[in-house]
Amino acid sequence: MDTKKLFKERYEIIDLLGRGGMAEVFLADDTILKRKVAIKIIKAQYAKDEIFREQFLQEARSAGGLSHQNIVTVHDVGFINNRIYMIMEYVPGTDLFTYQHQKDGFSIREAVNFIIQACSGIGYAHRKGIIHCDVKPQNLIVTEDGTLKVTDFGIARFLSNVNPIDEEKIVWGSPQYFSPEQAKGKITSYAADVYSLGVVLYQAVTGKLPFTGGTSKVLMEKHINKTPPSPRSINSKIPVELEGIILRSLSKEPSSRYRNANQMGKLLENLYPNKTPILTLSSENWFKTAWAKVKAGWAAFLKFRDKHIFQVDKDIFLWIIFGAALLAGFLPLIINSLGIN
Ligand SMILES: Nc1ncnc2c1ncn2[C@@H]1O[C@H](COP(=O)(O)OP(=O)(O)OP(=O)(O)O)[C@@H](O)[C@H]1O
Ligand SMILES: [Mg+2]
Repeated sequence: MDTKKLFKERYEIIDLLGRGGMAEVFLADDTILKRKVAIKIIKAQYAKDEIFREQFLQEARSAGGLSHQNIVTVHDVGFINNRIYMIMEYVPGTDLFTYQHQKDGFSIREAVNFIIQACSGIGYAHRKGIIHCDVKPQNLIVTEDGTLKVTDFGIARFLSNVNPIDEEKIVWGSPQYFSPEQAKGKITSYAADVYSLGVVLYQAVTGKLPFTGGTSKVLMEKHINKTPPSPRSINSKIPVELEGIILRSLSKEPSSRYRNANQMGKLLENLYPNKTPILTLSSENWFKTAWAKVKAGWAAFLKFRDKHIFQVDKDIFLWIIFGAALLAGFLPLIINSLGIN
């Protein structure tokens, strides 16, 4: 007989993955679906309140409906011993903050590529009417293949509206990444997430936060009133256009920022169009890549011809292609001589 104690009679806890300001996250085995999951248990014990439960479930339902490759999927939420738990997709990897600090030579291109992915996930949520409200590197998990996944949708927004009914000291969200309107305790919009994405991008390309300060109060005051040092004054390799995007996303006035994460992501993509750094390839590598693509294209074409067109001698087939190309080249001259407009 199996004597293991299972969480919710289904999940076998394997390890503690990490602790944040408001929760503990465990790695567990789903004994029914035979897959790994992450279980988040929120510290605050206020799930006794019926209204709270209903509101939380409502919020969780909308976050649980998000399905996107750059968002950590939520499988289930519920209450246990008056605490909230969430069963999530397990994402093996490291958060962006740790990743940046562990990696030698974290490049601007790499940083922007991660923020483009974050914008894609958060932008998708914005299209569905959901604001994240706690965008920070610790909530962006980077997997081994370089995919970035955003976690903790909507939790901070919900919890910040609730007064904890026990004495536990809880830190909601992170003042280093707060938008000025969040710092003022005002109702936030998608532009609040754009601001926080701007802070994450600023930190990713300069290695520094735009504002630092001893206490949360000092930090919030700076987000509201102070102008951050220009990113290029810290890292001169940052292109002017990229600095422009960062500074616009850090505008104090929400309406001066990008409307949502999608818009910000599009501009970053325009600046760094491809995940493959074609422009940085040496000319020799460029030629090799181009030649390999021509060869692969020709092989695919021959395969298609053999399968679908007809079986003729290779030389005759080449002559036909050559003739067709020649004809196509002369076609404008023929049309011109016939006087067709
Ligand atoms: N779905 C997941 N898969 C794998 N690891 C995760 C997952 N969710 C969270 N973690 C890990 O657990 C750690 C703690 O997460 P948690 O969200 O509680 O804290 P945080 O994001 O650092 O702070 P905050 O409480 O302000 O959100 C994260 O840093 C991450 O390493
Ligand atoms: Mg988190």
